[in-house]
Amino acid sequence: MSGRPTTPEQVIEARDLHVTLDGSRILRGVDLSVTAGEVVALLGANGSGKSTLVRTLVGILPIASGSVTLYGTPLGRTVPWQRVGYVPQRVSATTGVPSTALEVVSSGLLYGRRIRMPRGAWASAMDALDRVGLADRADRAVSELSGGQQQRVLIARALVRDPDLLVLDEPVAGVDQQSQESFAVTLTGLVELGTTILVVLHELGTFAPLISRTVVLQHGRKVHDGGALPPSAAHATPGHDHVHPHESPEEGSPLIHNAGFGS
Ligand SMILES: Nc1ncnc2c1ncn2[C@@H]1O[C@H](COP(=O)(O)OP(=O)(O)O)[C@@H](O)[C@H]1O
Ligand SMILES: [Mg+2]
Repeated sequence: MSGRPTTPEQVIEARDLHVTLDGSRILRGVDLSVTAGEVVALLGANGSGKSTLVRTLVGILPIASGSVTLYGTPLGRTVPWQRVGYVPQRVSATTGVPSTALEVVSSGLLYGRRIRMPRGAWASAMDALDRVGLADRADRAVSELSGGQQQRVLIARALVRDPDLLVLDEPVAGVDQQSQESFAVTLTGLVELGTTILVVLHELGTFAPLISRTVVLQHGRKVHDGGALPPSAAHATPGHDHVHPHESPEEGSPLIHNAGFGS
């Protein structure tokens, strides 16, 4: 097509990334380069640093050394956050304000310095809820929804911006098989539209046909970056990832003003 750049746009560029949390070195020199339209699965055992990496990439965690650019803009400057949707690894939703599903989803339209809902916000939020099959739960308090439904609300909150880059941290952990399959269909639609995706997974499962590349972390280092199928070492032990009780993941994120979850 005319007018298209001949080289794909650089979406994520992390160079020699080191991240330290509470005095422990968690990421040790990670390089990651993702171009437009790629669907990259990030794999690795529990505690290998997957969540730390994606949270650093979306500007939630500080960088000890190295660099990250999103769409060519270094983190900490004017990254075009409206192009980025992020689905955090789910944390308990039993505390926090009693937001409805619709409110949580519409909060995805707030980013950067935008503190007021744009025109048409509710309609967009309803549309996003519909895409995850929860339109009939719009007015329900999120805390009343099942774990899988809460996860789908978080996905809708990321989708409501129509992001060009979607970063998902174990989006289907704890989600029933049927919802996983319908989410894979939703993702397929986004991939066909050209959305760039970085997704942390325990196993490729339902998503295998979508994945163009796998990256594997081990002890905070990248140990594989290549073809669609991971080496056998990549198969993580099943189970849920550890979430530190003292951290409140979304607070202060440039991406999310009012997460309504776990904060
Ligand atoms: N806030 C924190 N303070 C100290 N250590 C942390 C913190 N968050 C995570 N960690 C540690 O960092 C390592 C990587 O965690 P994480 O990125 O959550 O791994 P993964 O998502 O691959 O399971 C783990 O050893 C974890 O205990
Ligand atoms: Mg994790």
